[in-house]
Amino acid sequence: MDRLIIRGGKRLEGSVQIRGAKNAVLPQIAAALLSSAPLEITNVPDVSDVTTMLALLQEFGVATQRDARSVTIDAGKATNAVARYDLVRKMRAGILVLGPLVARFGSARVSLPGGCAIGARPVDLHLKVLEALGATVGVEGGYINANVSAGKLKGGRIVLPFPSMGATETALMAATLARGESEILNAAREPEIADLALCLVAMGAKIEGAGTQRMLVQGVDTLRPATHHLLPDRIEAGTYAIAAAITGGHLELLDARLEHLATVGAALERAGVQIWPTDRGLMISRSGRLSAVDIVTEPYPGFPTDLQAQFMALMTIATGASVIRETVFESRFMHVPELGRLGANISLQGSTALVRGVETLRAAEVMATDLRASVGLVLAALVAEGETTVHRIYHLDRGYEALDRKLVQCGADIRRVTE
Ligand code: EPZ
Repeated sequence: MDRLIIRGGKRLEGSVQIRGAKNAVLPQIAAALLSSAPLEITNVPDVSDVTTMLALLQEFGVATQRDARSVTIDAGKATNAVARYDLVRKMRAGILVLGPLVARFGSARVSLPGGCAIGARPVDLHLKVLEALGATVGVEGGYINANVSAGKLKGGRIVLPFPSMGATETALMAATLARGESEILNAAREPEIADLALCLVAMGAKIEGAGTQRMLVQGVDTLRPATHHLLPDRIEAGTYAIAAAITGGHLELLDARLEHLATVGAALERAGVQIWPTDRGLMISRSGRLSAVDIVTEPYPGFPTDLQAQFMALMTIATGASVIRETVFESRFMHVPELGRLGANISLQGSTALVRGVETLRAAEVMATDLRASVGLVLAALVAEGETTVHRIYHLDRGYEALDRKLVQCGADIRRVTE
């Protein structure tokens, strides 16, 4: 298992290329199942979750072709196979094949995703969405069985009790091939949802209101060949912004968009970090001291849960105390004890962390537990005195393309050790 050895204390300077969004490409790969015509997606990040999602589609007889920056997915000869546990358990996003399979074939059998380190994460909303469109859904022996007696889903009104990203994506994809009109209320508004809608529209779907709380979808019978260019990854961009901030550095994030990071940018500014748009993306700089800032994670446009661990790492060395409240995933604090090993002063009460800034962090051996927790540890290690070893970094490779190489190019002292 690979590990990273990080010697802290280097300021980051230079530029980092931000790639296409991991959380946009995964649903779009699933969306290719809706169509018998090929879908090409460009600006695809080289991360292992993409490989896992493509492997899942290959189970259905889908032809996939991956080049340096694009994937082409041809589900023309797809068959309605079972989405097996050993593939879906690797990645919760595997559940996203459920909606497209039911919409195209009238039935599906998909394993429940396995347990996950960041919370219970049920899939009940995905199932309710399909029921609202006329499917009969049951769970038996760890598998979801969905059937449409009429053979085709029927447009309906979907009211989400919580703006879940995944359930909104299931709704959009399933409604695309349903008979008649569907209305999705309290929809998630993340930029990745609007990007999925753009991709579906390029494929021939009829969608209005993407990126807002109310979306209308007119079902169509068939879809056409399409090409879609992914939007930049706002979480990757936010992570490098915090890397610049924590090291007192100066980074330009190429292709990053400030409008996708408004809440994060505002929190960074309150903490004493400068952030401004440039012709090529975003510039981040910090020269003064860091001040403690409170944040609450919320669905978009609130502060993203996917940047909570990184922001907490930043707050460990700020002046003052910061209250960090997690409202999206109840137990997304796996990084807290590991940050403690680096000398951070954090106390946890339920879903709230109190971070009292310390003068310095000190190197230790730490363990990565999930994607964002892992990267939070890497950021802390960039300023910890001495040599920190981050174990189990396969989590990082799921969602960050060449994280260590990109950081090294900006001046970080990092070695990857492969065993
Ligand atoms: C997406 O997960 C992202 N994954 C996550 O990114 C991200 O943390 C999350 O949205 C929130 O922004 C992808 O896009 C592939 P949700 P998703 O449905 O769709 C509860 C990362 O690190 N819920 O919006 O699974 C759920 O338990 C990751 O890149 C139900 O109760 O998130 C959670 O508490 C990890 N029932 C909340 O809603 C359901 O049926 C938000 O989940 C579905 C969700």
